[in-house]
Amino acid sequence: MDLRKALLTLRFVGLRTAFRAVRAARERDRWEGRVPPATPAAWPIVRPLETMTSLPDGACFAGPDAELEIRFLAPEVVRLTWTPGVLPPPYAVVRERLTEVSVSHERHTEGWSLESAGMRIEIRTDGGIRFRDPSGTIWREEEPPARAGQAWRHRVRLDPEERIYGLGERAAPLNRRGRIYRMWNRNPGGSYGPGADPLYLSVPLWLSLRPEGSYLVFYENPFEAIFDLGATEPDVACLTFAGGALRYFICIGPPDHALACYTALTGRPPMPPRWALGFHQSRWSYESAEEVRAVAQGFRDRDLPLHAIHLDIDYMDGYRVFTVDRRRFPDLPGLIRELEGQGIRTVVILDPGVKVDPGYTVYREGMANGRFCRLPDGTVYRGLVWPGWCVFPDFTDPAVREWWGDQYRSFVEMGVAGFWHDMNEPTTFVAWGEPTFPRGVRHAMEGRGGDHREAHNLYGLLMNRAAWEALRRLRPERRPFLLTRSGWAGIQRYAWNWTGDIESTWMALRQTIPTVLGLGLSGIPYTGPDIGGFSGAPTVELFVRWFQAATFMPFFRNHAAKGTPRREPWVFGEPALSIIREFLRLRVRLLPYLYTLAWEAAQTGAPLARPLFWLDPSDPALWEIEDMFLLGSALLVAPVMEEGARSRAVFLPAGEWYDFWSDRRFAGPGVVEVEAPLERIPVFVRAGSILPMAEDGLRLHLYWPSQGEGEGILYQDAGDGFGPYRVDRFHGRWEERALRIRRIWDGDLPWPEEGLRFQIHGVALARAHADGRPVPVEGQTVIAPLFEELIVEIDSI
Ligand code: GLC
Repeated sequence: MDLRKALLTLRFVGLRTAFRAVRAARERDRWEGRVPPATPAAWPIVRPLETMTSLPDGACFAGPDAELEIRFLAPEVVRLTWTPGVLPPPYAVVRERLTEVSVSHERHTEGWSLESAGMRIEIRTDGGIRFRDPSGTIWREEEPPARAGQAWRHRVRLDPEERIYGLGERAAPLNRRGRIYRMWNRNPGGSYGPGADPLYLSVPLWLSLRPEGSYLVFYENPFEAIFDLGATEPDVACLTFAGGALRYFICIGPPDHALACYTALTGRPPMPPRWALGFHQSRWSYESAEEVRAVAQGFRDRDLPLHAIHLDIDYMDGYRVFTVDRRRFPDLPGLIRELEGQGIRTVVILDPGVKVDPGYTVYREGMANGRFCRLPDGTVYRGLVWPGWCVFPDFTDPAVREWWGDQYRSFVEMGVAGFWHDMNEPTTFVAWGEPTFPRGVRHAMEGRGGDHREAHNLYGLLMNRAAWEALRRLRPERRPFLLTRSGWAGIQRYAWNWTGDIESTWMALRQTIPTVLGLGLSGIPYTGPDIGGFSGAPTVELFVRWFQAATFMPFFRNHAAKGTPRREPWVFGEPALSIIREFLRLRVRLLPYLYTLAWEAAQTGAPLARPLFWLDPSDPALWEIEDMFLLGSALLVAPVMEEGARSRAVFLPAGEWYDFWSDRRFAGPGVVEVEAPLERIPVFVRAGSILPMAEDGLRLHLYWPSQGEGEGILYQDAGDGFGPYRVDRFHGRWEERALRIRRIWDGDLPWPEEGLRFQIHGVALARAHADGRPVPVEGQTVIAPLFEELIVEIDSI
């Protein structure tokens, strides 16, 4: 640990905890010494497979050291399981099969092959495996696995052209190839920058792109793993898992399809409440009801939209989770009501550590009923967090999840709208070494027993599961809103994420894009950074540029560490305040679009923020672009991430693009230099898109392409709950001097406004007809009743 980091830690945890952290580290080392080392000295390859037993959807193979089971879940999706090794409880994967598949089996001199309509798998007797698509192209080639003790090693050949994406939350380039990553959720210690690894949330999944196409692989193994993706040997991905069965899923197909399959297996991100897509204001900490009121008032006075305020740890009584400091928040329910009256939701932080304090009910009750994790000698494990010594619920026990979930009741009754789960890697403070439980700590693992080597990466996932299930129980009429720092595969079923304690530097702002995109490609669409970075003091310019970029990211929150200068928008003075106001208003205008993207994510797993290659995964020119991103399929966002820059180069992919600010039209592919004064960042709209925006009610913006077709979707419902909804799909066909838009819809919600307003960009309008009747045209806007077909004739382009 360098001196700066040591001082930062001291500032955050205080002197007393820092001293105790020495004791905590010593105790941890004592227990760690009893667990076998994670990395074995040699890797014996498993001896050849000898027999095959056919199954209707796959086959089983057996050899003297290992067994391999292969099962097709759909023609292009397959699950492979090498045993021995303990199988994971179904924490990540919630579906067994996607569609019926018929599989044919063949025996060859060198081994066997299995074939479905979407994939051919060739299994050599030595255990090497090749995956081909129906055209015969090889997608993936694996060497026979090796096993040492309980650990597995898996080597996969990499094509020279191959790019790799995903792996959960990483402070790494978008293309992960050429580096080593650790799958072990870890708090980097109050601050991190580009290159830090691992971070809080790992997902052992990658998406591989090659000129021939793409596939996704997900290793359903929560043990600590090392993914060396061509760092040591450029053409080999070498993965090691410290234990468990070597189980993995493969899906061949373009990124959108692969992610749809992955999220069909691990669950789709459910519809969030609409307010969650708005702006969140936070700080460690708003320490009293008066301070919270003053912040809300500050937003109102300056006409700044605000959707949620977050209460960090100081609202608690001595950092005891599920308590409220009554001196500083004498009437929290009253405050929450007051804020809600202003359209502001309250989100409170919760940490999993429970303070050791016999006078505190959660501790007493938990101890009496065996809710907390134990050391191998049967004593309850204690670790240090904000309150000092803590004990930790074992979320791998269903009874503990239920008990923990019941603790949310009082907050639900108080009207708390959302819960922010922190320190759930799980983190404990130690003076050196791993800032978490000793690996020998015992866990129930749904009754079959296991230890922290297996449960560690699952801890955050299961804390969120406990809360999600509780909120569905306690408040069934509302959609839960959970925000988590840690998680694993499947976390998208329960929670949003933020990217933790990123430093306040320009490099960190640049890192945010590949980090957010990488999470999206790992099935976790709702994420975003602390605007301005967590741990430092951004300059006015850095804060403004960060704010502008974050306006287009799924989770939009201003947050900062204790001891840093204040970050409410007005502290930056003018012109920053006016710029921030404009971007806040833009976010509000974008809500119908964002909400529709949320619905799409719930249907297909597609992330809201997407890499440019989403448009055309076969175009290598798009593979490594990580200083821009797409928001849905309509917007391309190119944040400014260089101090002093007042213009920047923007790569526009093939097609036509409109400058969002000026409506100027550009033809891609190509690079354009775009003006970016402090009050703007380059944003482009893909011609052919229909962008729904909230502007005095709803307004649909159509961007005219000189030829071809276009489309847009609009999802609407009450903004929360599980009531009626509607989906309107607009399909536009451009003829020489007219635009023909057809609308089809489904759902059970009546159209909530009087009619429809279309603003058409890029052309001058002559007249318009809705279902054969003339409708008014005002400048660029057509005002129509709800139609089936709208025909807009144009004057000029
Ligand atoms: C952790 C969180 C941060 C929070 C702080 C105090 O560092 O990442 O967001 O403000 O703890 O709760």
